[in-house]
Amino acid sequence: MSDYSEKLKASAEEAGRIAADYLPENKGLAAELMESMAYSVNNGGKRLRPVLLLESFRACGGEKELEKMLVEPYMAALEYIHSYSLVHDDLPEMDNDMYRRGKLTTHAKFGHAQGVLAGDGLLNYAYETAGKAFQNAMASGNETALRRTIGAFNVLTNKAGAYGMVGGQSVDVALTGKSIDAPTLEYIYENKTSALIEAALMIGGILAGADEERIALLEKIGSACGRAFQIKDDILDETGTLEEIGKPVHSDLNNNKTTYVTLFGLEKAREDAENLCLRAEKMLGSFCSSDSFLSWLIAYMTKRVK
Ligand code: IPE
Ligand code: IPE
Ligand code: MG
Ligand code: MG
Ligand code: MG
Repeated sequence: MSDYSEKLKASAEEAGRIAADYLPENKGLAAELMESMAYSVNNGGKRLRPVLLLESFRACGGEKELEKMLVEPYMAALEYIHSYSLVHDDLPEMDNDMYRRGKLTTHAKFGHAQGVLAGDGLLNYAYETAGKAFQNAMASGNETALRRTIGAFNVLTNKAGAYGMVGGQSVDVALTGKSIDAPTLEYIYENKTSALIEAALMIGGILAGADEERIALLEKIGSACGRAFQIKDDILDETGTLEEIGKPVHSDLNNNKTTYVTLFGLEKAREDAENLCLRAEKMLGSFCSSDSFLSWLIAYMTKRVK
């Protein structure tokens, strides 16, 4: 398979630029809120979700002229939701972590209350940003584009909320320090992590006009590779270094969390993550070649070292 590391670097930079461009201006009395929101979004990160969204759009044959009009606002919106999920995940009441992406976490830098508010601000602003795709579609008079944005919005709100990421995080914190069985852990990973990755692939497909069957397949691909991604995150929490992963190692251990690694051991965790990725890559075969950037990205979910 070709090595797409450089392409990922360039795509991540571009996704970061898009996310930065849509942010609100740092002005007025609430400037500190805007600053803390920008800090959380602009401090790096792999930008995997917006990159997956764009590549899914392209693999589904999306029209080039819709990229700026529809895809970019959704890329930014999804990255804002991901960023807010991390800001809240790091709060003392949740994982209580002080470093993220090699820098102080938002609450550690701006204080606890601003940390909560930066997350709230980003979540709301995510939907405001997705709304720009509606405005763009309306202004262009393109009814097909408008219909697609409605479908994409439903997926974004559903996968980010109580039936998705927030639901998973809630069970994660409720069961911290308790023993968890395999189906419960799968529920947590499916929701706290896979949901936003499913959203990325599905929104890309919906904006490109893919049919329901294809969208359902993209959801399955996101589910498998999202779970692999979280298992790899658990592995890196055990085996990585602060320099490599940019966040404290042994955060899960210190919080007494049951993870895939504590439940099954490192070796099985590695094996299962790779098998989940292989399953996802196989399903992706009906969208793009095994030598495509998107296939490489799915494999990267477990090969990554940060
Ligand atoms: C971290 O996500 C949270 C998990 C779901 C494991 P990422 O590893 O994508 O975080 P960034 O955006 O690259 O920092
Ligand atoms: C968090 O999982 C997933 C989210 C929805 C934020 P983790 O708690 O393992 O993520 P990290 O390790 O802090 O990035
Ligand atoms: Mg957590
Ligand atoms: Mg955490
Ligand atoms: Mg983790």
